[in-house]
Amino acid sequence: MKALTYHGAKNVKVDNVPDPELAHSDDIILKVTATAICGSDLHIYRGKIPGMEHGDILGHEFMGVVEDAGSGVTNLRKGDRVVIPFVIACGQCYYCNKKLFAGCESTNPQTGTMDGRGAILNKKSATSGAGLFGYSHLYGGYSGGQAEYVRVPKANVGPIKVPDALADEQVLFLSDILPTGYQAAVNAQLGPGSSVAIFGAGPVGLMSALSARFLGADKIFMVDHHDYRLKFAQETYGVIPINFDEDEDPAQTILKATQNHGVDACIDAVGFEAKGSALETTLATLKLEGSSGKVLRQCIAATRRGGVISVPGVYAGFIHGFLFGDAFEKGLIFKTGQTHAQLYMPELLEHIGNGKMKPEVIITHRMTLADAAAGYKIFNDKEEDCRKVVLVP
Ligand SMILES: NC(=O)c1ccc[n+]([C@@H]2O[C@H](COP(=O)([O-])OP(=O)(O)OC[C@H]3O[C@@H](n4cnc5c(N)ncnc54)[C@H](O)[C@@H]3O)[C@@H](O)[C@H]2O)c1
Ligand SMILES: [Zn+2]
Ligand SMILES: [Zn+2]
Repeated sequence: MKALTYHGAKNVKVDNVPDPELAHSDDIILKVTATAICGSDLHIYRGKIPGMEHGDILGHEFMGVVEDAGSGVTNLRKGDRVVIPFVIACGQCYYCNKKLFAGCESTNPQTGTMDGRGAILNKKSATSGAGLFGYSHLYGGYSGGQAEYVRVPKANVGPIKVPDALADEQVLFLSDILPTGYQAAVNAQLGPGSSVAIFGAGPVGLMSALSARFLGADKIFMVDHHDYRLKFAQETYGVIPINFDEDEDPAQTILKATQNHGVDACIDAVGFEAKGSALETTLATLKLEGSSGKVLRQCIAATRRGGVISVPGVYAGFIHGFLFGDAFEKGLIFKTGQTHAQLYMPELLEHIGNGKMKPEVIITHRMTLADAAAGYKIFNDKEEDCRKVVLVP
């Protein structure tokens, strides 16, 4: 079959690889009908995620049709049309029982790099979090879904059936960015009348804005430096755009616009590769800094006392200049982490079905899997006003 494979930084290509096979009784083989490129894939593309090996198949946002099912699969049959959450969860462990699916402690065998510590620096004897599709050997080394076929483990827990009346594009983002934006907005404790500032106008920032509006938020600021993304968010979700190339202190602007209180919550939909100062870029290049602290500092400054900082953006390692004293003084709440996708998919599917959520409007590029390498470049380099790329095998 054909699949998009990793061969080093900025070097991905579609290769012929062996077809996947059932390995456990609760696996399915999925024939992929649509898959997207996620901002998280860009961290891999830029060579920033350790534990990638030559030939690894990328992709964690995908859907398709069940091609084959193991004997232990109880609720799916060949021919069923399903969306697959990017998180692989067993449904039965300590964390799955708490519905913290991204914490599933039985799907990441920890064969990753970094001395078996996985993604946590001070891990001690803590268990590892869930395995993820196509996301390096730190996260279990599972083959991803930017392929014609993919093995989906734990098929009794993850895949969600979708009605024929909904097109692939309408439901595809249930796999990742829609639950991610929704969890970010729920974690931000948004409700009718809330104010929020969203940093990052990429797909996750846009799904956060959609969700903030859905939950009744009143004032939504959005910070980025790509005018075409900000303009789309302004037209679609009514955000107040702030371009940080023109306004070098967005947090101060947000404070001034809120009687110097700040917003009820900030959402960091950028993560560890946030564009920061020249000093931060140098520290990151020398690996003296794990993550850019630029956006988190802005979030702490722009949030009102007692407010929430919700972080869907991915972070890694340590940050200099993380002003935890400021956060303490303001009594801030932090909510972070990978999305517990399985938890939100059923309710979000309903909202898509009844027309209250239209995540597909952010799609700008529809390409074939064969053109996936070009899709990565366009999305990474923000060419052609790209917001989101969908690939069809
Ligand atoms: N928590 C999860 O489970 C989960 C799921 C999906 C994606 N993510 C993460 O969410 C983040 C965003 O993903 P995306 O698909 O929107 O990616 P993206 O790269 O398309 O968007 C990021 C945006 O942030 C902007 N940006 C960069 N520096 C900034 C700064 N200093 N201030 C404000 N904006 C800045 C960029 O211009 C870009 O538009 C990534 O870190 C991704 O890995 C997390
Ligand atoms: Zn993702
Ligand atoms: Zn589990």
